[in-house]
Amino acid sequence: MKVIVITFLTVSIFFSSCFLSKKSSEVEDTSEFVEEVEKKVALEAFSVTYENATPQDIQKGSEIFAENCARCHGKMAQGKGAPNLLDAHAIYNPSFANMKLIIANGTEHMPSYKNKLSDNDIARVTAYIHTLFGTVPEGAKGPQGKQW
Ligand code: HEC
Repeated sequence: MKVIVITFLTVSIFFSSCFLSKKSSEVEDTSEFVEEVEKKVALEAFSVTYENATPQDIQKGSEIFAENCARCHGKMAQGKGAPNLLDAHAIYNPSFANMKLIIANGTEHMPSYKNKLSDNDIARVTAYIHTLFGTVPEGAKGPQGKQW
C-alpha cells in the first residue's frame, strides 16, 4: 500500500512539474528564443535603422504591412487574432532590433518573412510600426505579454 502511494505521489509531482515549467517558458521566458534568432540573422544585414528611415521608407513599410501583416494584426496594427503591436505590452522585446528579428524569423505562431521580404523591407515595416507606437486605434486589442 505504501509503495502505491509513494509511486502515485512521485508520478504526479513529475507531471505537474513538467506542466508548470512548460507553461512558464511559453509565457514568460523569451530570452532563449531571442538568443536563437540573433544567431540566425546578423543585425548588420539591415541598413535601414529607425533613426535613418526616410518618409519613403515609412510609406513603403505601411504598404508592406497592409499586404502581409494586417490580416492577422489588424489594419492599424491594433491587434486581431494576433497581438496589438502598439501598446506598452508585448510578448517579445519590441525594440527595433528585436522586432526585425521576430519578423525575419517568425515565431511559433507567426510565419517567417526572411524569404519573402528583403532585409531592408523588414526594417521598413518595423520602422512603420514604431511610428504608430502609443496610438490607440479603434477596436484596439487588450494587452498581451509583459509591459516593456
Ligand atoms: C498568420 C498570422 C500572422 C501574420 C500574417 C503575421 N503575424 Fe505577427 N504574430 C502573429 C502571432 C500569432 C503573434 C504572437 C506571437 C506568437 O504567438 O508566437 C505574432 C507576433 C508578432 C510580433 C511580436 C508581438 C509581441 O507581442 O511580442 C510582431 C512584432 C509581429 N508579429 C509583427 C508582424 C509583422 C510586421 C507581420 C507582417 C510582415 C506579421 N507580424 C505577420 C501572427 C501573424
